Amino acid sequence: MAALGQEIRWENIGDPIQKNHPLPAWIKEIIASLTLQNESYGYCPSKGILDTREFLAARTNERKGVTISAEDICFFNGLGDAIAKVYQYITPTSRVIGPSPAYSTHSSAEAAHASHEPLTYKLDPENKWYPDLDDLYNKIKYNPNVVGILIINPDNPTGMVYPLEHLKRIVDIAKEFNLFLICDEIYLNITYNGATAYALADVIGDVPGIAMKGISKELPWPGARCGWMEYYNRDKDKEFDRFCHALDNAKMIEVCSTKLPQLAIPKILSDPRFKIYREETNRKIGKRSKIIADILRTVPQLTFNETYGAFYNTIIFREGALKATQKIKIQNSEIKNLVEQWTAVEMPLDKRFVYYLLGAKGVCVVPISSFCSDLQGIRVTLLEEDEKKLVETFTAVRDGIIEYLASA
Ligand SMILES: Cc1ncc(COP(=O)(O)O)c(C=O)c1O
Repeated sequence: MAALGQEIRWENIGDPIQKNHPLPAWIKEIIASLTLQNESYGYCPSKGILDTREFLAARTNERKGVTISAEDICFFNGLGDAIAKVYQYITPTSRVIGPSPAYSTHSSAEAAHASHEPLTYKLDPENKWYPDLDDLYNKIKYNPNVVGILIINPDNPTGMVYPLEHLKRIVDIAKEFNLFLICDEIYLNITYNGATAYALADVIGDVPGIAMKGISKELPWPGARCGWMEYYNRDKDKEFDRFCHALDNAKMIEVCSTKLPQLAIPKILSDPRFKIYREETNRKIGKRSKIIADILRTVPQLTFNETYGAFYNTIIFREGALKATQKIKIQNSEIKNLVEQWTAVEMPLDKRFVYYLLGAKGVCVVPISSFCSDLQGIRVTLLEEDEKKLVETFTAVRDGIIEYLASA
């Protein structure tokens, strides 16, 4: 489509750098100075650099929820690598239940390990995207194969931040059914407009669990391919301890994970400028969240929730709003032909809309049906740094939706 002259606005991926976010010069200088040290170019211990793991363990311990040591931390080549491994080392018949809509790296990896459909609990768009705890409880109660619960907090794709009471209840459910918890906290420090995200470490008590963290979003440095797992309460459950060992051993087979970002982490995160930078960046994301809300929440056929964390929003078409005959006018006849060709096969109705939006308005969003959900909708990002472009993009999305829905 780009080759046919369509200018594309990429709303499909959570990469702040791609959306022109300027990484502060002082962070670049820290990284640049590390590249001048010879030791940056060698291997490092399989689980990660000891000083960095000690630094991260101390930060978690400061929260006063759990106590971990450097031994309870293992680095991976991005959380994507960690996610792929964590499900791979669970017995195939055992299941981890995760949220729906789902960040598909988790749901696909979990489904692949079990050779089955993903097992999900509902996040409720009619209740601020909070998890439906009755649904979660019942699905666990009636499925003895469930061994773990996945939480993504703050959430991708909805931008929801789990309230403290919900997290505590999930920990209670895990305790009742002898499950372990996985909490993807890659967005933990990306909250705004008055919200705070509580860490798994704050609420887990003596339940076994894994927190997954990384720097792809918070620095942001997604190209570093650097994330880590923190194991909580290994000493309380022998089976869980064995599982953590299996994950460490999996990393040993690969020798180690990317070293340069591990060297940079303590230097950047302990710099007093980091907190100020993160607060400022979060404030900007929060402002964009409100701008998008002002543009889109007025469309009556949509279920719209304001976001409070991460940098995505999931916008749902009300039931029956989408039809297979709807269209948006596309001026360029070649692009029109392409869209008609792409949409000629049977596909989810939200995916069909996404193709028309791309062809007519040049905005590339992601259909919610691809996030392991029965709902129909789109996921957008809150990353556009240029406010004028942001308003243009979301006005184009709104106009596209209105025209599409009114067309048939
Ligand atoms: C919830 C969540 N977890 C993990 C990742 C992957 O992070 P990484 O770049 O560290 O592989 C993403 C990326 O979008 C994400 O949204």
